[in-house]
Amino acid sequence: MKQPSPPAHCTFEPDDWLRLARCWHPVARLCDVGPAPMKAVLLDEQLVIYRINEQIVAAKDVCPHRGVPLTLGFHDEHGIICPYHGLRFGEDGRCNRIPSSPNQPVPAKLNLINFPVEVRFGLVWVCLAPDADNPAALPQMPHWEDAGFQQITCPPFDVAGFAGRQVEGFLDVAHFAWVHSETFADPGNQEVPPYNPVETEYGFTVDYWSSVSNFAAGSDRQAPEGFQWLRHFEMHLPFTATLTVHFPDAARLVIMNAASPVSARKTRMFAPIARNFDLHIPVEEVHAFNHRVFEEDRLMVETQMPERLPLDLTLEAHIPADRSSIAYRRGLKKQGYGDFFLV
Ligand code: FES
Ligand SMILES: [Fe+2]
Repeated sequence: MKQPSPPAHCTFEPDDWLRLARCWHPVARLCDVGPAPMKAVLLDEQLVIYRINEQIVAAKDVCPHRGVPLTLGFHDEHGIICPYHGLRFGEDGRCNRIPSSPNQPVPAKLNLINFPVEVRFGLVWVCLAPDADNPAALPQMPHWEDAGFQQITCPPFDVAGFAGRQVEGFLDVAHFAWVHSETFADPGNQEVPPYNPVETEYGFTVDYWSSVSNFAAGSDRQAPEGFQWLRHFEMHLPFTATLTVHFPDAARLVIMNAASPVSARKTRMFAPIARNFDLHIPVEEVHAFNHRVFEEDRLMVETQMPERLPLDLTLEAHIPADRSSIAYRRGLKKQGYGDFFLV
């Protein structure tokens, strides 16, 4: 198979692009994909996504005939239709109709260039450059399938920043008191007790114990005196981190932070959530609270300099609370990501 190559006007270095393209990234919520052509951008590649006979197709958003984006087109029950000359594409991106010569066979050259798709955690994941010898693993999410857990997939939102910076912020435990005091943290509780990242096959895990509550600010609920909160992080390189918050009484809240790299400067955030408490609260409230927390991070993530993530640890200053951030940069470096991460 031909080596996939970066799209025109790619914002990544070619080697980094290929390394990232070998991984799975989310591009849409499953519930948002229907029979109509839907647009997504992943690693600067323009994609069209649609559902046909319960199959999800993700392909280059380029008509093989004269290059018009299919996301400008329409659909019927047999597929999506290019707006220029009406070619129609169905399962597996196969062209199944040429209106101007309806009785001729359809050459395979007219099929869309499509990509492998997986559905997990209410999200559609795409791999742009599958490596048959060394297939990439999809991230795991604790408790998603467990009995008693509610599955919630929050609406995506966009961040004008690099995915690596956003993910690093999700792993950061020293900013709670500074950035999240209006949603859950206590501005007076600033100290970060020591913790140690443990390397895994896909990245690392961290068990972070502290007295920082995760109940919503202003809520009348409180943990018992002296309760220690465990936040268990699982980092799946490069851009998916999952946090399990251990509440009192075996209540668990799992938040997946799946940062999809639209380009080197733009990120689409997906956040599946699983929990085994407050099941009567409407999911819209969960969406709204989660969104507020992410919005609190926005200013930091979008204004940090350099815009990308310096993997050379000598290029930024570190404090003891940064063990996760250091593990993150080391992990990316070990996987071979290069200077691209520094601009
Ligand atoms: S460009 Fe799409 S049908 Fe001609
Ligand atoms: Fe944050």
